[in-house]
Amino acid sequence: MSANRWQNHNLDRILIDSATIQKRVREMGQEIARDYQGRSPLLVAILKGASIFHADLVRAIDLQVAFDFMAVESYGASTQSSGAVRILKDLDESLEGRDVILVEDILDTGLTLNYLMHNLRSRGPTSLKIAVLLNKPSRRIVDVAADYVGFDIPDDFVIGYGLDFKQQYRNLPDVWILNPSADSARP
Ligand code: IMP
Repeated sequence: MSANRWQNHNLDRILIDSATIQKRVREMGQEIARDYQGRSPLLVAILKGASIFHADLVRAIDLQVAFDFMAVESYGASTQSSGAVRILKDLDESLEGRDVILVEDILDTGLTLNYLMHNLRSRGPTSLKIAVLLNKPSRRIVDVAADYVGFDIPDDFVIGYGLDFKQQYRNLPDVWILNPSADSARP
């Protein structure tokens, strides 16, 4: 779809274009394939935001991989994490003895991934790592580090490539900055 069709909505400007995202995701896949040679990692996507990134990332990994999905909801306002996380859909697979890579759209305050790492670690995986497309280091509240990071980005609210604002814009191929005047972008 053409970006022009979206211009009058809540979009400010493109932060990372589709070609740049695709190139970086391919590199991340190659890096993961090197690190997990001879193994068959389980790539767990956190729905819904990571769905697009996960779909591209697994196809860039030249290994036999398995995947699974988890859906979580953080309590609180629309664009601000509160720290309390509720599991809406749990994994189908057991993590016992598996090499698990948690695939998330964005590492912001770190509250969601901090909760998920504790939760999944207790299920007995052999290893547990994190792959995120985007990282906002300036927003971190808890100390969580991702093992694979697509891009470090500034403290802007971004949408597209799986990321939403009020459940919209996930299907944009590029990552955009939300117009700061958009309704309650940062409560
Ligand atoms: P956390 O603050 O690290 O716990 O991030 C939790 C979730 O907030 C992420 O998985 C995203 O779904 C959402 N989020 C954080 N920053 C943004 C953003 O800039 N755009 C869209 N969603 C975001």
